[in-house]
Amino acid sequence: MKITGKELRQKWLDFYKSKGHVDIGAVSLIGDGTTGVMFNVAGMQPLMPYLLGKAHPAGKRLCNVQGCVRTVDIDSVGDASHFTFFEMMGNWSLGDYFKKEKTAWTFEILTDVFGLDRDKLCTTVFAGNESAPRDDETAALLIGLGIKPEHVYYLPKEDNWWELEGTVGTPCGPDNEWFYPIDAEKADPVFPDDYVEIGNDVYMQYKKLADGYTPLDHKNVDTGFGFDRMLLFLNGLNDAYLTDLFTAVLAKLEELSGKKYAEGGETQRAMRIIADHTRTTVMLIGDRQSLTPSNVGAGYILRRIMRRAIRWCRKLGVSSDAMLDVAKIYIEEVYNEAYPLLFEREAYILDEIKKEADKFDTMLVTGMKEFDKTVTGLERKNEFMKKSDPAYVPETVIGGKAAFRLYDTYGFPLELTEELAAERGLTVDKDGFEAAFKEHQEKSRVIAKGEAKGGLESHSEMAVKYHTATHLLNAALKHVLSPDCNQKGSNINDERMRFDFNFDRAMTEEEVKAVEDLVNAKIREDLPVVYREMSLDEARRENFVGVFDSKYGEVVKTYSIGDFSKEMCGGPHVTHTGELGHFHIIKEQSSSAGVRRIKAILK
Ligand code: ALA
Repeated sequence: MKITGKELRQKWLDFYKSKGHVDIGAVSLIGDGTTGVMFNVAGMQPLMPYLLGKAHPAGKRLCNVQGCVRTVDIDSVGDASHFTFFEMMGNWSLGDYFKKEKTAWTFEILTDVFGLDRDKLCTTVFAGNESAPRDDETAALLIGLGIKPEHVYYLPKEDNWWELEGTVGTPCGPDNEWFYPIDAEKADPVFPDDYVEIGNDVYMQYKKLADGYTPLDHKNVDTGFGFDRMLLFLNGLNDAYLTDLFTAVLAKLEELSGKKYAEGGETQRAMRIIADHTRTTVMLIGDRQSLTPSNVGAGYILRRIMRRAIRWCRKLGVSSDAMLDVAKIYIEEVYNEAYPLLFEREAYILDEIKKEADKFDTMLVTGMKEFDKTVTGLERKNEFMKKSDPAYVPETVIGGKAAFRLYDTYGFPLELTEELAAERGLTVDKDGFEAAFKEHQEKSRVIAKGEAKGGLESHSEMAVKYHTATHLLNAALKHVLSPDCNQKGSNINDERMRFDFNFDRAMTEEEVKAVEDLVNAKIREDLPVVYREMSLDEARRENFVGVFDSKYGEVVKTYSIGDFSKEMCGGPHVTHTGELGHFHIIKEQSSSAGVRRIKAILK
């Protein structure tokens, strides 16, 4: 290796620190929900508020190497260049320096620090449109630094404008992209065919609106150079899995399977998928927001990644324990310095991987049988029909119901069924799958409603209203008396509700009135009552109240009432608080030692 991952990381950070930047370290991989983007897809994402003008505690010049997760290309993982997790070397000016310094520093790090040949560097700048002018300023600076004038290209928005797709209110702007020949030895490389992009400097000076762009008060720089790609490239390699980040991992997989990465074909593909997916798994579970596999949101994406890795372990001929061995290498050897948190939480990460692997291993065996049965059935039918009618066009689509059964009973993510189908020259009826999914959801909803009602004393509309009122009361008590007040029990019938909670003295008249008023205020606001399923961890993170023990199982049912109340609960509830009418406390008394009881009615 000409340069190792650890060296590259250090060189990037040292260089920008020497230019007055503070290393802010990597932040969580999981999006904060403000942009609707589930994972960080760029180093700038967590810095959005600061690019829009908020003061960053570390100052105006920042740098880091930030992990990113992009799962749109998951099907391409297995080739020589795709990853679901990668890192971006970044640096930022928050309303501080601009084009002059930035062009000079990028030029300096590429040529002086990384030793690239200035005569071979190619670079592209924004050609201009109705939102922003042509970037002649950057072009002139680049030529002034020593880039050949014929190596500076003006390109339109599709190429030289950077923004977070699908968002509004986010910072964006024209960018300056840097390219180098894929094969540095080639005599006369031609742009762009013989070149690869190594990174870009975005001049973030606009804010994206729903229907255009508006200038920001201060001008920022947002630089991103792909760490994994740079590492590959500086080592003159053409396979991203041959950098030192994966040396020990591939060696381990070779040892466990008795096969060689260099064999190519399916063996190589399997090793790459296991290496990539396990790395992403480690990073997400070990993230400071610790994601765990589940059936909803980001947790489901993680589950899909893990299940795909497990299946490829089998294809490689190793057990899913291989994921644990690979995870250990990342945690203990590869990312131990850059991500000390992983090391601290090693036992937890390995345990979560093991749990998911155990769960899926058993399902995979029976699920594969089921899958084979479905395919064999289809093939038999085709054969039979062909015999009786030579013009018969064979069916090549696995039905949506069958795919849903694989999902529901055997935990096969749709993508897995699709991948398996493709291996047999088949496709899956996606729309049919979605339809079966919806039908099933509807059925479960009806059943859940029935079951939950069964838990109440009566099934009436009134009891449902009282049930929602207990949530409002629970939240109001926390507000008025103490956040430590918690529900200890409740009893509902058509006429009234009873609610027990811990509190060590009688409530004053004023307190009773304040609680009552607060509940009524929330009723008048007609807040929506929203049902959501999520993992227990997610519920805990989002501060849902309830009994956090295993009896709730992995996925919990939650109800939130505006921002006012968040509880884990099976329901049922009204859809809006306005339906409750007027809330009136008729009695506050002692129930047992340290527990008070409120009786209340709705009028
Ligand atoms: N935000 C820019 C990128 O992700 C730097 O490429």
